[in-house]
Amino acid sequence: MEAEGISEEEVFNQILDTLQANDMSYDSGRILGSMCTKPLELTIKLYQKFFDRNLGDPGLWKGTWKLEREAIKILGTLLHNPDATGYIVTGGTEANIMAMRIARNSHFNGHPEIIVPYSAHASFDKAADLMRLKIIKIPLTSEYTVDTEAVEEAISKNTVAIVGIAGTTALGVVDPIDKLSEIALDRGIYLHVDAAFGGLVLPFLAKMGYHVPPYDFLLEGVQSITADPHKMGLGPIPSGGILFRSDEILKKNHYEIPYLAGGNIRQATIVGTRSGFAAIATWAIFKYLGEKGYIKIVRRCMKLINLLKEELKKVDGIRVVNDPPQMNVLGFTSDYNLHIIDKRLREKGWALGAFPNLLRIVIMPHIKKCHVENFVRDLESIVQSLK
Ligand SMILES: Cc1ncc(COP(=O)(O)O)c(C=O)c1O
Repeated sequence: MEAEGISEEEVFNQILDTLQANDMSYDSGRILGSMCTKPLELTIKLYQKFFDRNLGDPGLWKGTWKLEREAIKILGTLLHNPDATGYIVTGGTEANIMAMRIARNSHFNGHPEIIVPYSAHASFDKAADLMRLKIIKIPLTSEYTVDTEAVEEAISKNTVAIVGIAGTTALGVVDPIDKLSEIALDRGIYLHVDAAFGGLVLPFLAKMGYHVPPYDFLLEGVQSITADPHKMGLGPIPSGGILFRSDEILKKNHYEIPYLAGGNIRQATIVGTRSGFAAIATWAIFKYLGEKGYIKIVRRCMKLINLLKEELKKVDGIRVVNDPPQMNVLGFTSDYNLHIIDKRLREKGWALGAFPNLLRIVIMPHIKKCHVENFVRDLESIVQSLK
């Protein structure tokens, strides 16, 4: 650190120099592989006013806490349980780690095991690593959903949780959560649903008349759900969501934090100090967009993902993996080397998600039709050059 500080203007200039030369932007339309998106103007305005709220000490910020409770109620209602309890956390990773901790504690045994699909997000590996859980990964069917018979076979006396995904990271597909719920109820095992992405897409697709398989608290076996505002909720980064069926589940899993300025509280989150702004903004965006606002956004994303799918199908040597896409996520593979295709796309400024056997595109609200068209044109020329 320098001995002398510099002016505000100089600080801005230095930041801009670094960021403009190195960062990508949502407006360019080139970020095609992220599940996050550009914040609303409303969020930026709110940030200037309320960035300082800390829900790690909610006794000081009782209004912020109240808005978080209301945001959780809105999210719970969308997922068919207005009585769900939970928190706005840092993202899907923290939410999934919290759920695995609660599940492990609810059925504590000496050698806890969790059963997850192969499609599960790396946050479950992190949870397993942190809590020394054995993680059992279950193969997928030809539909890229978890093989539920294999789940049943994998259950042992050590199983503390089964995980189903409602909107997989790679393809946005929904596991047969109804079947997992039956298994969980039958065997008395905790079922967590990772709807980090799907939790703020599926409720609106259902209202738009799409066929949406059951995945949420309507299914009795589902004990907790991850649903992230900072993905399709258009929330600020970071804002994740974790919901539990009832307060009962959390009861024995709180920590007493006696020293807080706002008074002694009980905390179930992994982190202590946490963003109250994330909760305020989540509440605000839910109120501002309403169901109709979200439906409009999801409809646009679905229209573009289907346009992309049709355009990709016309490119010789490219194959769409998930046709039709269940959500605004599409994977494609190729007769040519995917790694080289990904590298060439990056050289042309595109940023997709690379998975072992596919490249993934997520049509988020910042993507426009012209971006899709430009992308397909570039992909076509890359594939041509590989022939
Ligand atoms: C299904 C799913 N769960 C969890 C996560 C992790 O979320 P985060 O990056 O917010 O921690 C992701 C990230 O894309 C995801 O797709």
